[in-house]
Amino acid sequence: MSVFTGLTDFDPAPSLQSSASVTVSTKAVTDAPVVGYLVAQDGDVPGDQGLSAAALEAAGFEGKVGQTIVLPSADGPMTVLVGVGELGELDSDKLRDAGAAFARATQRQGELALTLGETGSVASDIAGQVLVEGALLARYRYDVLKGKPTVEPITELVLVVDGRRSAAVRRGAARGVITAEATNVARDLANTPPALLTALDMAELATRLGKKRGLDVEIFDKKALIELGCGGLLGVNAGSAEEPRMIRLTYRPAGSRAHLTFVGKGIMYDAGGMALKPADDVHATMKNDMSGAGAILAAMAQLEALGCKTAVTGYLMCTDNRPSDTSIAMGDVLTVYGGKTVEVMNTDAEGRLVMADALVIATEDETNAIVDIATLTGAAMRALGTQVAGLIGNSAELVAQVEEAAVVTGESVWELPLERRYRGDLNSDIADIKNLGGANAGAITAALFLDEFVAGKPWAHIDIAGTAQNDRDTSWRPPGCTGFGARLLVELALNFKRPAV
Ligand code: BES
Ligand code: MN
Ligand code: ZN
Repeated sequence: MSVFTGLTDFDPAPSLQSSASVTVSTKAVTDAPVVGYLVAQDGDVPGDQGLSAAALEAAGFEGKVGQTIVLPSADGPMTVLVGVGELGELDSDKLRDAGAAFARATQRQGELALTLGETGSVASDIAGQVLVEGALLARYRYDVLKGKPTVEPITELVLVVDGRRSAAVRRGAARGVITAEATNVARDLANTPPALLTALDMAELATRLGKKRGLDVEIFDKKALIELGCGGLLGVNAGSAEEPRMIRLTYRPAGSRAHLTFVGKGIMYDAGGMALKPADDVHATMKNDMSGAGAILAAMAQLEALGCKTAVTGYLMCTDNRPSDTSIAMGDVLTVYGGKTVEVMNTDAEGRLVMADALVIATEDETNAIVDIATLTGAAMRALGTQVAGLIGNSAELVAQVEEAAVVTGESVWELPLERRYRGDLNSDIADIKNLGGANAGAITAALFLDEFVAGKPWAHIDIAGTAQNDRDTSWRPPGCTGFGARLLVELALNFKRPAV
């Protein structure tokens, strides 16, 4: 794109450069400037600090989940107590929150040590993983375009744990570094302004990253897409000066047990096309309309490092959706890959158009299931808000696997019905289907549209329109683009079992 930004060789994924060293120690760390302690409400107070439970309570610290108290010292390290609640109720979500609270309470410090203590029923490896995730995710800020960073990046994190659990904690912590990077890279991509991350830039990044991370990367340019007949992606792209790109990522481990396909919406900027969006707060977030594609790239870049046994193919459908003299018009009919025709009743319902091509292509691969992820509908955001993504599918088994991954990662989903009684809302007078449903159930009619292109294969759809952007600043979720879905997709791929139905 020829927008002058004054920034040459801009890096759309700065999180790949950040180098937090995360280690595990079985000895109390004495030279770290900050030493944190996890403290349970019903557990012991760290012994060597001259503290008592009563004194802490008088100061307002009761050990509730995410509560912190910072005790500065003139000559020793700063001591930070981090509450984890009742030991009997501890779970991985609460520990991730505790890791985040620790990182937040120490915002000005780059070198941290955290002493674990008991973690209740949470296995040691999971404890290591979620504490690291919490800390690295909470400390994330999109700062590359600022003169100076708003928080100190974590350069060193030492988890202090007894020898009995150190190997497991070390294993989990290493995973946490990898999964946190997935989320933070997905955040970077979505946060990057549209002029700095176009479809071409995305293809370039995927090529560069894929080479380093064990992925085959195939780029389909406009000419290739015309040859294939990808009328959905080409139609949405018609109003853009810049070409579209379909990016196919392939991860093929030796002895793979099953094959999973991801399809991601990669609208680099959604102006609405001819149906131009009003210049409001929502329109101003539309650089994030590639969050689905970004989550897939960020997730797939970590599969090799995690030793994933599932073969995974990813399709990233990348273009802008802009109004211009060459844009498709309301009433135009597009022919999607494979031949189905779509009447475009609203150019702002573009996500489903670009996804349709890839879904059909995915059904031609020998895959066991297709999972798509897209900032698809304002209706999903209206229904579920910004903390829960919509989940719709045709396979109860696959839906259950997505739900399980959501629980484990803390990236919440809620199932909505694939209610076929609404399918009639998509009937077109002149084409096979139209891209707009009725006034109600917009998240469901969007999914019914996608369902038309999966040929009955096991399929699940994750609508992240609400969860892609955070309007508050809580725990491990800083404001801005969230990277939602990256860790969920990683977890899903790691545990994937081919669904029977
Ligand atoms: N990218 C938007 C969905 C969206 C809206 C995401 C608000 C985040 C916040 C999508 O392309 C869109 O414009 N959807 C329309 C569909 C409608 C025209 C059927 C919507 O939801 O309003
Ligand atoms: Mn739109
Ligand atoms: Zn969109």
